Amino acid sequence: MQARARSPSPPPENHVNVNTIPRQHQRVLSGMRPTGRLHLGHYHGVLRNWVQLQHEYECFFFVADWHALTTHYEHSGVISENVWDMVIDWLAAGIDPGDAKLFIQSRVYEHAELHLLLSMVTPLGWLERVPSYKEQQERLRERDLATFGFLGYPLLQSADILIYRAGLVPVGEDQVAHVELTREIARRFNHIYGREPGFEEKAETAIRKMGKKNAKLYRKLRRRYQEQGDSGALETARALLDDQQNITLGDHERLFGYLDGGGRVILPEPRALLTEAPKMPGLDGQKMSKSYGNVIELREDPREVQEKLRRMPTDPARVRRTDPGDPAKCPVWQFHLVYSDGQTRGWAEEGCRTAGIGCLDCKQKVIDAVLAEQAPIRERAAEYESQPDLVRSIVAEGCDEARDAARETMEAVRQAMGLAHR
Ligand code: TRP
Ligand code: SF4
Repeated sequence: MQARARSPSPPPENHVNVNTIPRQHQRVLSGMRPTGRLHLGHYHGVLRNWVQLQHEYECFFFVADWHALTTHYEHSGVISENVWDMVIDWLAAGIDPGDAKLFIQSRVYEHAELHLLLSMVTPLGWLERVPSYKEQQERLRERDLATFGFLGYPLLQSADILIYRAGLVPVGEDQVAHVELTREIARRFNHIYGREPGFEEKAETAIRKMGKKNAKLYRKLRRRYQEQGDSGALETARALLDDQQNITLGDHERLFGYLDGGGRVILPEPRALLTEAPKMPGLDGQKMSKSYGNVIELREDPREVQEKLRRMPTDPARVRRTDPGDPAKCPVWQFHLVYSDGQTRGWAEEGCRTAGIGCLDCKQKVIDAVLAEQAPIRERAAEYESQPDLVRSIVAEGCDEARDAARETMEAVRQAMGLAHR
C-alpha cells in the first residue's frame, strides 16, 4: 500500500493497451456531480488523473447537474453556485481548456434525448439491480428516492457516455457497475437497431470502398477472427478501419459490426478506467469526505489549512512529548504516505517511535507539503475567480464542442431507430 500511495497514478497505458483500442474509442469522458467546493480527496482521487489524461486523449469532462437533481430535487437552489465553484476548482487543479472540453450536462439537451430513447429498450430489472439503487435509497432515507428520475439515473449516465461514443471512462470503484450497465445497454441497442435490412450486402459494398489491398486484408482478418477466434486479427482489423479516411461513418459502423457477425456498432461499448489513486485520508483518519466534516478544501485559506492540520489528532499514546508513538495509529502518518518522500517518512517514523520529534514537528512537514501543493492551485483559482466571464466562455465553448459531437451520434441513433422522418 505504501508504495502505491506515494507514486503518482500510473499512466493509463498500464490499464489498457492503447493500441488495441480503435481510435474512435479513445475518447475519454467523465463527469462529476456539482457538490460545491472540491477538497484534497477529489484532487488526489480524480482531478490529478484527469489532468494527466487530457494530454493523452481527447477528453470531455462535464458537470453532471441533472444527476444532482436525481437526489437533490428538493434543494436545487444550491446547484448553480456549486457548478461554478466546481468548474473553477477543475481549472485551478490544472484542467486545461485548450486540451479538454469542459461542459455542463444540462446545456447539451441531446443527453436527455438519448436517455429517453435508450429507456425504450432498457429492461426495468437492469435498473433495479444496479447496486447503488437500493444502497442509496437506504442510505439517504430522509429523502424520497422512490422516483422515476432516481431509478433512471444510471441510464442517464449511460446516455452521457454513449452520446460521445467514449471508449474510456475514468471512474472510481463505486461507478464501475454503471459503466458495466452502459456496456449492456450499448450491446442491446446495437443488437436491436444495428441489424438493418440488407446488412450483409451493404457491408460487402463498404469493403470494396476501401480499395483492393485493404479490402483483401480486411477479409483475411475477418476470416481469421471468425474461423479461428484470433482476437489479434480482430484488433488489427479494427485498427485498419480506423485508418480509413474515405468511408462514411455508417460504413465504418457496418464494417465494425461485420467483423464479429453482429449488426452495425452504432454505440461502441466503453470501458471503465479505474483510477488507482492513493486513499486520501481526512483530518480524522477516515476517508476524506464532506459528510464527515474532515476535509481540507482545494483552495482553502492557508492559515485555515495550517490550523486544521495542527489540530489533527495523533496517536493517543503520545500524551507528553517524551512518550513514544506508533505511526500506524496516527492519521498524520496517512498524510505522510501521500505527501512525503522516503526520507521524510523515515525521519517521522523513527522520530515518532523514539520520541525524538514532537507531533508538531512531524505535522509541520505535512503542512509545508500541502501548502506547497496548493499554492499554484490557489493562484490559478484566484485568476479565474476574478474573471467570471472567462470561465463562462470556456464552458460555453466546451458546450458547443460537446453538442457537435453529441449531435453526430444522435443523427446515427435516430436513423437507426427509424426516426429520420423529417
Ligand atoms: N454518477 C457519477 C457520480 O456520481 C457522475 C457521472 C454522471 C458520470 N455521468 C457520468 C461519471 C458519466 C462518468 C461518466 O460520480
Ligand atoms: Fe503522529 Fe507524527 Fe505524532 Fe507520531 S510523531 S504520533 S506520526 S504526528
